[in-house]
Amino acid sequence: MAAKIAVRNLWKIYPTPDGPLSVLEGIDFTVAEGEFVAVVGPSGCGKTTLLNIVAGFEPGDRGAVAVDAVPVSGPSRKGIVISQQGSVFPWLTVRRNLMFGLDGLPRQEKRRLADHYAELVGLKGFEEAFPYQTSGGMLKRVEVARALVVKPEILYMDEPFAALDALTRVRMRLELLRILAQEKHTVLLVTHDVEEAIHLADRILILSSRPASIRSILKVPFAQPRKLTSPEFIELKEQILRELGV
Ligand SMILES: Nc1ncnc2c1ncn2[C@@H]1O[C@H](COP(=O)(O)OP(=O)(O)OP(=O)(O)O)[C@@H](O)[C@H]1O
Ligand SMILES: [Mg+2]
Repeated sequence: MAAKIAVRNLWKIYPTPDGPLSVLEGIDFTVAEGEFVAVVGPSGCGKTTLLNIVAGFEPGDRGAVAVDAVPVSGPSRKGIVISQQGSVFPWLTVRRNLMFGLDGLPRQEKRRLADHYAELVGLKGFEEAFPYQTSGGMLKRVEVARALVVKPEILYMDEPFAALDALTRVRMRLELLRILAQEKHTVLLVTHDVEEAIHLADRILILSSRPASIRSILKVPFAQPRKLTSPEFIELKEQILRELGV
């Protein structure tokens, strides 16, 4: 079967006032349909750059990126990005935020879908709330629901839960796993949270510091639900941290 996402020998060099800055050097990997791949690497190594190139928001300099065997030349409706900064409109209610991306559908249908996904992420009863009336964790849920409501084939996530407290972070991961069990998406997650990567992903790509190349790719050998405190889990976490030089 062809890969859902194929990245082949990808290079990225930014021109800067101090000369060319090499960020990605020969990145090579694939993501299968329905697979969850996490990318971990030191801060500033080029994770966001990699995600942005794969999602079509900026071009690479050398190499190739393809989704469903079609070269990526810009953002596509097949994928949606959940970013660190967030993209919820503060002037719209939760429901309106969810309805926003559903152009072309009848109003009733938009509303039905919005409310369905609000419920799926645990926001039932808050459809009429404005973002300022919600908490950081709830806002993240709106973010996730807004991405899912357009039924993307691929979810690109860039440190989606980094701004949350530790407890909410774990809760959001469990929610995400529950949702992914219901609606199978292909996921590419960028994170510097090694525990998050092991908790969620089928495979983990470990990047070197900048310029990023792939140090290793490993398969997470645990079935879901995963126990974060098991000796094997902790052992794997330590192994990855060692690879990251921590
Ligand atoms: N448009 C740009 N022009 C020039 N340099 C850039 C540009 N975008 C990113 N960079 C540089 O490329 C490097 C990689 O940035 P990137 O945001 O991809 O790192 P990251 O791994 O996502 O970091 P973090 O973990 O802190 O989010 C950094 O040194 C950054 O300064
Ligand atoms: Mg980043």
